[in-house]
Amino acid sequence: MTHPEHPIDTPPRPASPVHGFGTLAVHAGSPHDPVTGAVIEAISLSTTFAQTAVGKPVGQYEYSRSSNPNRDNFEKAVAALEHARYALAFSSGSAATANILQSLAGGSHVVSVSDVYGGTHRYFTKVALAHGVQVTFSPSLELDIAELIRPTTKLIWIETPSNPTLSLVDIRAVASVAHQHGILVVVDNTFLSPYVQNPLDHGADIVVHSVTKYINGHSDVVMGVAAFNAPELFEKLSFLQNAIGAVPSAFDAWLAHRGLKTLHLRAREATTNATAVALALEASPHVLAVNYPGLASHKHRAIALKQHRHGMGGGMLSFRIRGGHEAAERFCQHTKIFTLAESLGGVESLVEVPSAMTHGGIPREQREAAGVFDDLVRVSCGIEDKDDLRADVLQALEKAVVGGIVKNGVNGNGTA
Ligand SMILES: Cc1ncc(COP(=O)(O)O)c(C=O)c1O
Repeated sequence: MTHPEHPIDTPPRPASPVHGFGTLAVHAGSPHDPVTGAVIEAISLSTTFAQTAVGKPVGQYEYSRSSNPNRDNFEKAVAALEHARYALAFSSGSAATANILQSLAGGSHVVSVSDVYGGTHRYFTKVALAHGVQVTFSPSLELDIAELIRPTTKLIWIETPSNPTLSLVDIRAVASVAHQHGILVVVDNTFLSPYVQNPLDHGADIVVHSVTKYINGHSDVVMGVAAFNAPELFEKLSFLQNAIGAVPSAFDAWLAHRGLKTLHLRAREATTNATAVALALEASPHVLAVNYPGLASHKHRAIALKQHRHGMGGGMLSFRIRGGHEAAERFCQHTKIFTLAESLGGVESLVEVPSAMTHGGIPREQREAAGVFDDLVRVSCGIEDKDDLRADVLQALEKAVVGGIVKNGVNGNGTA
């Protein structure tokens, strides 16, 4: 876990694999200040660091794009939580994706699950192609993987749970085929966070996060991270991190690190809330189908039991509402606690309609093949009280499906 160029990692009570998640979340990468004793690290805003002679910096830092104390500490914390030797932070989840794709030579081929985050799909189809990397999408990776692999295939991209249909992929099943062909497996773990799932433990080579979501958890930082074990990956990706320069500010790294310290508490509460909401939706006559990996009825529940901590379902779910797209939109306008907004993983609960919002850029045919129908509503459960969230969903369903009356303006947050 030690950064080879910055070997000093000496928190007074060093975190180690023998410690539980909560202890690591609070202490990994959190040294006390050796001069003042400050328990919380200072925000190191300096962009440059003094040298005593040419090429001899006073400490371990030279220039903040290449590395800085707050980013280093955040990276150490994420590495500990994802059971990785290394982690690299980026200015967004999309920048982490771009960095990984940029590490492939022109002419490389990638296989990806179909219902990836819309921005990942956009990068794969519109940006990667421009530098000679071709991506093939599959709705059923475990079944198709062997026949999709070409001699030029270098990477397999998994989102599990997928966005927004919450399908699960058996990481171990894909990785064992991929590794026979020397292909790397990347897992976007944004939807679950390292508290619920650690993809590297199931055979993935790289785990990525939009830190913007659960890791930061307070909807006030845009950031990304990639974690992995292979030193060769560290060489390649840290070179690109510096060369491309899509790095987070020291302040954002500090904020995200603060958010990460309560990830275990927030992830547990979000799962409790999402379970209550999913059960209420499943029992409602106004709902066609519920996608939530914590439900016994979920088509991939067996994978959740194998891959997720205690089979937890996480805070995200989606459902198909009766009444089509209009009912989906009405539902989002009638919630009082859930805010109609993109994004997820914050302390506050959100709802959105993927076909018109996060996944609007994906052609309808491809979208629907992946289960993203016009009547699908995506829900991010925050950490409010579960009874309030359940009641809010039920009253909004009633109004959207039976009442069909839309109140004025956008979302009714007045009572939230
Ligand atoms: C699953 C997933 N991966 C990646 C991203 C991209 O992250 P960012 O918005 O931080 O660039 C998102 C953003 O919504 C996401 O939901």
